[in-house]
Amino acid sequence: MNKSYFRIASLYLLLGVGMGMVMAASENFALRPVHAHVNLLGWVSLALFGLFYTVYPHAAANKLARVQFWGYNIALPVQMLALALFVTGHAAVAPLLGISSVIVVLGVLCFVVNVWRYAGSSQK
Ligand code: HEM
Repeated sequence: MNKSYFRIASLYLLLGVGMGMVMAASENFALRPVHAHVNLLGWVSLALFGLFYTVYPHAAANKLARVQFWGYNIALPVQMLALALFVTGHAAVAPLLGISSVIVVLGVLCFVVNVWRYAGSSQK
């Protein structure tokens, strides 16, 4: 799971900096919120999830960690696509943006529970 977190995170980094380059070169900043969230929810958060589960492998062995991994990683690309469409004037995607955002937040909630359960635990 950790390896997958790092690999997926690195793809979001590539996408995020690529979007940054395109925005800067074209001087079109319409997708600025998508760029920021791809970098922060994609690259930064996924890399930190991977680091946490590397330090506390025991925390990765429960159902909550699996629910987090699949929920977050399925919902995040949907959320980013819906956000891109929403900020470029396609208001009809709002429900999809809402639902995917809730799933991402639920994934974060699973992570928070695991952090509180296992961070600092000697049972690695
Ligand atoms: C080659 C790498 C990058 C390039 C070329 C780039 C480019 C840009 C550009 C052109 C903007 C819009 C600035 C404006 O509207 O005045 C921006 C905003 C932003 N970027 Fe990047 N960026 C890069 C990497 C990153 C990374 C790695 C992160 C986070 C980990 C990040 C987070 C943000 C944030 C939070 C904003 C503000 C978004 C907003 O105000 O809505 N960027 N970036």
